[in-house]
Amino acid sequence: MSTIKDVAQLAGVSVATVSRMINQNGYVSEGAQKRIAEAMTQLGYEPLNRRRLADLSMPTIALILPDITNPFFSELARAVEDVCQQRGYTAFFCNSDNQDYKEKSYLEALRKRRIDGIIYASNYLTQDELDKLEREKIPVVVLDRTSDEQKCTLIRCNNYAGAQMAVKHLLDIGCRKIAHIYGPQEIVTAQERLNGYEDFVKSFSWYTPSLMAPGHFQLDGGMQAVETLLLRHPDIDGIFAGNDFMAIGALKALHRRGIRVPENIAVCGFDGIKLAEIIEPELTTIAQPIYKMGEQAARTIIQQVESAEARSQSEVIEINVSLITRDSTRRD
Ligand code: RIB
Repeated sequence: MSTIKDVAQLAGVSVATVSRMINQNGYVSEGAQKRIAEAMTQLGYEPLNRRRLADLSMPTIALILPDITNPFFSELARAVEDVCQQRGYTAFFCNSDNQDYKEKSYLEALRKRRIDGIIYASNYLTQDELDKLEREKIPVVVLDRTSDEQKCTLIRCNNYAGAQMAVKHLLDIGCRKIAHIYGPQEIVTAQERLNGYEDFVKSFSWYTPSLMAPGHFQLDGGMQAVETLLLRHPDIDGIFAGNDFMAIGALKALHRRGIRVPENIAVCGFDGIKLAEIIEPELTTIAQPIYKMGEQAARTIIQQVESAEARSQSEVIEINVSLITRDSTRRD
């Protein structure tokens, strides 16, 4: 499929000149208009907007998410949908359940529907897949979780610094033996938070790796991790959970055992989902600007869909996290 760049090259003008002629927003000499029209005919080029008008469908963005049962992702989706509606785009949401095969089948379905752009929160996105999407001229913005070295636009938060912020806060309120409930280590965000915790505490005399237990980023995982940790270390007085879901599960398990939060054990989560404000005690957390990340991803993908430039630039947009102190660590 020819692109606006191919037309510009054949006509001997810039992409901007072709764009001005298509959108009729600026001067284009008669000679250039003639050459551009001939090039379009020769290449069978259909401008994006004319093609869309022809098939009378709004441009469409897909958001591929790993777990829509986790409010972090549904809050992201909210922001993406709001921006798409403001900009006249349709938003498709695909839930991959963290399954590679589901992601691949969604990609095939989206290709068949000539999706205009994809926002991808995945563990399995490979450089080969990114290269293939670029060859197909389908722009991709990756959200939250993938390794930095992949050639794409990546929007994420600073997980490592956020984890250290959580540990420092627990130490500042007087905790002297802090455990960590970690997410699946095949997910880079969980790895970075575990590394942030461990690098902070490994020099303390009380530290031992058995102070870390898996919670799978799930509510029941947080509950199970508390049972494991208290069997190993009944004297812990602080827990940093790698996401709010696991922290909420931890609160439930501590409550069941009659352990008072924060008096006996203080608990800090990570994400800043709205649920953290509603539960009792309200959860202290390291908040990701979830809505802002979704907005930024949607605006970035729409800008890439509407621009003719090559899109394989590697760009990491890292958004800061913030500590939100609530009752689960308030010991004043
Ligand atoms: O709660 C789900 C987690 O998966 C979030 O922390 C988010 O960062 C993603 O990695």
